[in-house]
Amino acid sequence: MELNRRTVIAGAAAAGVAATTLGGTAHATGGRKPVKELFGKLADGTKVYRWSLENGGTRLKVLSWGGVVQSLEIPDRHGRYANVSLGFDNIEDYVAKTPYFGALIGRYGNRIAKGQFTLDGKKYQLSVNDGDNSLHGGTQGFDKRVWDVEPFTKGSDVGLYLYYTSVDGEMGYPGTLKVKVTYTLTKHGDWRIDYEATTDKATVVNLTSHVYWNLGGEGTGTIEDHELKIAASRYTPTDSGLIPTGELAKVAGTPFDFRKAKAIGRDIRTGHTQLVTAKGFDHNWVLDKGITAKPEHVASLRDPSSGRTLKIATNEPGLQFYSGNFLDGTLVGPSDRTYRQGDALCLETQHFPDAPNHPSFPSTVLRPGQTYRTTTVHSFHA
Ligand code: BGC
Repeated sequence: MELNRRTVIAGAAAAGVAATTLGGTAHATGGRKPVKELFGKLADGTKVYRWSLENGGTRLKVLSWGGVVQSLEIPDRHGRYANVSLGFDNIEDYVAKTPYFGALIGRYGNRIAKGQFTLDGKKYQLSVNDGDNSLHGGTQGFDKRVWDVEPFTKGSDVGLYLYYTSVDGEMGYPGTLKVKVTYTLTKHGDWRIDYEATTDKATVVNLTSHVYWNLGGEGTGTIEDHELKIAASRYTPTDSGLIPTGELAKVAGTPFDFRKAKAIGRDIRTGHTQLVTAKGFDHNWVLDKGITAKPEHVASLRDPSSGRTLKIATNEPGLQFYSGNFLDGTLVGPSDRTYRQGDALCLETQHFPDAPNHPSFPSTVLRPGQTYRTTTVHSFHA
C-alpha cells in the first residue's frame, strides 16, 4: 500500500512519537519559522548561511550560496528519516568541486552549443566550461553566486525567497536579469519552487534545480533499482558533445521508454548508442503535456526498498534525466561515503537544451516587459 505523507505523520502522532520522529515542533499542519546559521565563509570572507526549514514532515536545508539544497530529509515507510540528496558538509568542498549538487541553475540550464547564439540579429559568445560548450550558465553560473535570502511563513506554508541579480554581460548573456526564486514547504511536506525573472534587454533564460536524488539516502549506493516513470513519448537525442541534434525521437521500443515505471538499471547497459555516448541517461524528455499554465504531474521516482517516492509536477515542457554518470568515486558526502557512478540521479524540469540554436524548440527568449515564470512541485510519499 502506498501511504501518503499525511498518513505517515498521522500514524506517528497516533503512536505518540511525533516529537522525536518529526524533530520537535513541526506538525502535519503548520511549519516552524526558518532558522538561519553560519555555514562557512568564502575565500574573500563572504559569509554563507544555511537555512533550516521544516513542514509537513519534510526537512530542508538551504545555503545562501547557489540556493543549494544541502540536505532534504523525508521519512521511509516506517517513518525513518534520511537525507535523500547528495551534498557536502562544508562550503570549501562546494566551492572546489561540486558537480552542481542541489544548486539553482541559471542563466541557462544545460548546454548551449559552442556557447553561442544569435538573438535579434546579434551574435553572443557565452562563457564556455564544458569542452566547446556552455553548461549550466558558464564558469560562474547562478549555482556559484551568493543569493539574498529572506524567510517567510504564510498561512500553513514556510519558505524562503532567494534573490539574485545577474548583470548585463555576465557570463556573456545580454540584459540585467533580476531573479526571484521561492522555495516553499507546504503543510503536506511538498517542496515547491517558483522561478521568476525580468530583464532590461532581450535575453535567454532557462532556470532549474539540480538536486541529486537517492531515495535510499545519500551515500547508500546505486539508484539503478529506483523505478522511474516519465510521461513523455519523445526525447531529444544528442551528439557526442551532448548537444541535441534537433530531432524529437520516439521513446517507443528504446531504453528511453519510461512511460511505464521501470527500474533505471534495466536497460542502462543495452549498448544503445545514445547511452554509450552519454555514459548512461543524460537526456531531455519531451513531456507529452507540453507547456502548461499550471504544474502538471510528469514524473515519479520510487525506491522499492525504503518505499520513498518522489513525484514531480511542472509547467515546463522538458525534463532532463541524468543518471549520475560522471560521479567517479572522488567526492565524499556528509556521511563520509564516496559517491560513485549512478549513486544518484537528477530530474531537472526545463526548456530544452540548446533551444536558442533550435528555432523548432519552445522558445527561451525573455524580453523587457515580460516576466519569466515557471513552477515545479516535488511531493514525497512513502
Ligand atoms: C547534465 C550533465 C552534467 C551534469 C553536471 C546535468 O544536468 O545533463 O551532462 O554532467 O548536469 O553535473
